[in-house]
Amino acid sequence: MKRTTLLTALAALPLCGCAQDASTTNQTETAAMPATNRTLVVYYSRTGENYAVGNIAEGNTAIVAKMIAAKTGADLFEIKTEKAYAASYDVCIEEAKKELREDARPAIVGDVANFDQYDTIYVGYPIWWGVPPMCVFTFFEKHDWAGKTVKPFCTHEGSGLGGSVRAIRKALPAATVTDGLAIQGQTAQNDRPAAQSAVDRWLGK
Ligand SMILES: Cc1cc2nc3c(=O)[nH]c(=O)nc-3n(C[C@H](O)[C@H](O)[C@H](O)COP(=O)(O)O)c2cc1C
Repeated sequence: MKRTTLLTALAALPLCGCAQDASTTNQTETAAMPATNRTLVVYYSRTGENYAVGNIAEGNTAIVAKMIAAKTGADLFEIKTEKAYAASYDVCIEEAKKELREDARPAIVGDVANFDQYDTIYVGYPIWWGVPPMCVFTFFEKHDWAGKTVKPFCTHEGSGLGGSVRAIRKALPAATVTDGLAIQGQTAQNDRPAAQSAVDRWLGK
């Protein structure tokens, strides 16, 4: 690419908030990127019918995950299960309870390319029965977390972080797991400025 063309292309990029979808990054693309991104936001979030928010097209945790990625310039990866949870809240509650009882590891689709390149990983999830959904643990077990700093964040409808940070520390003993951020799901969904302020305060700490 000619130098002038390159400069024009660079000028067209936003100055900050360059979050990229890590799921679409492959070895070749990463090699061609100007700098290696060391921060990743990985999250699970469910659409469909949920408590206090009705039928949602974008999950509450997804909204917060995107705010964090935009603010930090992190890559973004969404955990997706092979078999989607029910769109019905009542049915999903039962599915989640069964998975928790069985300590299940539901299969997930795809993976983060070049997980090794990240040293700070924000992990986001809804609180399900006091802890992250079991598919988050499926993701944990796919990777080597030694030396990583993990920053948990969740959305919930009353439990706050519940037992999730404890569960993550137990699952990832080789990582340093910081204190987490909890935002009420209906705030993320219906009051973006309030959710953004909570995110900004947490990131500023
Ligand atoms: C299966 C299931 C279990 C839940 N368990 C809890 C819970 O234990 N405590 C709580 O505060 N909220 C609970 N909730 C509410 C969710 O944590 C909340 O709606 C969250 O914002 C959903 O995030 P999402 O849209 O990213 O999936 C539960 C919701 C579902 C669907």
